[in-house]
Amino acid sequence: MPNILIVEDDVPFGTMLKTFLSKRGYDAELCFSGGDALKLITTSEFNLVLTDVRLPDNDGLDILKEVKSNNPTTQVIVMTSYAEISMAVQAMKDGAFDYVSKPFRPESILQTIENALNTEVVEQKAPQNKVARSKEKADPSAQYIKGVSDASRKLNDYIELVAPTNMSVLITGESGTGKENVAKSIHHQSKRKDAPFIAVDCGAIPKEIASSEFFGHIKGSFTGAINDKIGHFKAANGGTLFLDEIGNLSYELQVQLLRALQERRIKPVGSNKEIEVDIRVVTATNEDLSQAVKDGEFREDLYHRLNEFSIKVPSLKDRKEDLMLFADHFLEEANTELEKEVVGFTDDAVEAFKNYSWPGNLRELKNMVKRAVLLTQDKLIPMKVLPHEIATAEKREEDYGLFKNKNEEKLILEALEKTGGNKSKAARMLSIDRKTLYNKLKQYDIKL
Ligand SMILES: Nc1ncnc2c1ncn2[C@@H]1O[C@H](COP(=O)(O)OP(=O)(O)OP(=O)(O)O)[C@@H](O)[C@H]1O
Ligand SMILES: [Mg+2]
Repeated sequence: MPNILIVEDDVPFGTMLKTFLSKRGYDAELCFSGGDALKLITTSEFNLVLTDVRLPDNDGLDILKEVKSNNPTTQVIVMTSYAEISMAVQAMKDGAFDYVSKPFRPESILQTIENALNTEVVEQKAPQNKVARSKEKADPSAQYIKGVSDASRKLNDYIELVAPTNMSVLITGESGTGKENVAKSIHHQSKRKDAPFIAVDCGAIPKEIASSEFFGHIKGSFTGAINDKIGHFKAANGGTLFLDEIGNLSYELQVQLLRALQERRIKPVGSNKEIEVDIRVVTATNEDLSQAVKDGEFREDLYHRLNEFSIKVPSLKDRKEDLMLFADHFLEEANTELEKEVVGFTDDAVEAFKNYSWPGNLRELKNMVKRAVLLTQDKLIPMKVLPHEIATAEKREEDYGLFKNKNEEKLILEALEKTGGNKSKAARMLSIDRKTLYNKLKQYDIKL
């Protein structure tokens, strides 16, 4: 009979848990303080410790460390409140099996406890998988530019923080910002790095075969199923399953996915045997998923399951300090691929890059650089090989700044409109001082 130590200073809640677990056949012991827990840990061996992260005398994290140093095979599950998510992350980093957010119903923790107690088995299986799959791995750092801007630093901090945990991560950000790259680097910085990273574009799967794509099928289970098929879940077992464009998942599949994630078990189409899977899910979307939840298009329970931690990848225009780092990197890539030896960009091209807003983000920059490298005969990429919209981005800046353009009146009206009629802001936007703006307003007879 597995024995469980419950460390919980909330006496009624702790007592209820103890009663519940005892009824379910566990040998449950309860203590109310960190000090008592530390004593018990050294005198007896537990299969599992279920501890609150906040205790009057100690931190649940101290207990976790003590348990792990005394007996590494003891599993630890921490109990947190929603406000303590960073402690949960830390606990996972320090070796906790999982965390549960309070309040929870006792029934809902049973599955987690069972999984924790069974996990040793999964870990023994892992080395076999490693050998077979190591070929999949390329050198990830070679293609990943970290960036130096504040936005990039924050992004990298979050990746580093969440990567070693088992938390599911929802990655948001505009198209082409590098969401898939972020997902890969989470995988490569995790304990699962030697197991597979499987990327699935949820928008590209036809509805009719979606279940079989995800969960596999057995031969003959439907017309066209001529062989057994391994689904994405099984393929990613032990590793990371990356679900791209998650907002495109049909309602039916949302239900199936939620069940698979909750039970950590799947049933291939046409089979009556369940397969246990150990998967970390990372998802990405460029739509507003919380809005989709409000609109009833995306299941709220699944949303919370996928969004244990969220990361927003910044748009390129918000990481201007990284712009040339990325541009140089893409230049090198293009040189190698196209066997060219372009060494850099002319000053006015750099200026144009900085003025442009990059709606297609990194992908647009990469494509643009590649095309420019192909067209460039000299050592430096000149203005004339840049696409029109980028080349003219420079002009616009000049127009605003130097005010030589005939469209002066139009520019002023635009600036006023963009700033909602705020003259100081409009002046700043036009790079002129307020007084000049007032003079111009008079000159063109613009009244606000
Ligand atoms: N940190 C990085 N360093 C170098 N290249 C990167 C980095 N991040 C992304 N890229 C490159 O930028 C391009 C776009 O990245 P990615 O496909 O990850 O974006 P995405 O956000 O998933 O795009 P979409 O929304 O269109 O699916 C890719 O070619 C990728 O290799
Ligand atoms: Mg993508």
